[in-house]
Amino acid sequence: MRGKTLALVFEKPSLRTRVAFEAGMTQLGGHGSYLSANDIDMGGRESVPDVARNLSRWVQVIAARVFKHATVESLARFASVPVINALSDREHPCQALADMLTLHERFDRLQGLRLAYIGDGNNVCHSLMLLGASLGVSLSVGCPPDYRPDPEIVERAERIAADHDATITITSSPAEAAEAADAMYTDVWASMGQEHEAARRRPAFQPYQLNSALLAHASPNALVMHCLPAHRGEEITAEVADGPQSVIFDQAENRLHVQKALILTLLNL
Ligand code: CP
Ligand code: NVA
Repeated sequence: MRGKTLALVFEKPSLRTRVAFEAGMTQLGGHGSYLSANDIDMGGRESVPDVARNLSRWVQVIAARVFKHATVESLARFASVPVINALSDREHPCQALADMLTLHERFDRLQGLRLAYIGDGNNVCHSLMLLGASLGVSLSVGCPPDYRPDPEIVERAERIAADHDATITITSSPAEAAEAADAMYTDVWASMGQEHEAARRRPAFQPYQLNSALLAHASPNALVMHCLPAHRGEEITAEVADGPQSVIFDQAENRLHVQKALILTLLNL
């Protein structure tokens, strides 16, 4: 990657995604250039297509973290270099790649594993369903009735799962979702951009906390997973997040490895 630059166009905060991309580029001999909303104000100071066209003249790859999924799609349409979704309101594919690597490290396989996702049917849930299904990992999602994953994505994941001997299950019972799970996964109850809804969401999500009582429904020694940042005492208890079954910091480390691999793959290196 000597002489090559990755542009990081971020409309939202980040610890893991940003540092994993920047450190990854450094390790590969290239450079990461971070551009916050304050720097370029996509759609305000300059249109999304023009940002894409400009960046394409200087850098070899773009990673974008955006509010609206349509923004990252527009960047991809108008850029002449690869564009990586570094999180949108709809999907978080880099996270799901790291999570599948983490599962593979622990089980030495992915086909046939059962992953239970408990909580909000959000971007992380969507990407786990889509990527998991394509790798033979069955997903059972336990979520409040008003916070189910997008039905269109569920349908797409079900079609992919059917081709890979896997299943997608959506239930409002967290205990049912946890049944026989090889790994239990959760994420925050209010994602970035939804902070103002946090108080309203809390009561609906309380029964979906990943705690030792819920973990007891999974397979013995099931892994505990979280994309981070975590709110201990809300979606996950400290006891579980920091307990012996937790692999949350392996997931964080694996962001680095998969994102390096992703860049090399996209640039055919
Ligand atoms: N898990 C994750 O994407 O973390 P950041 O928001 O800190 O990048
Ligand atoms: N669902 C969370 C994931 C953060 C990495 C969010 O979008 O804020």
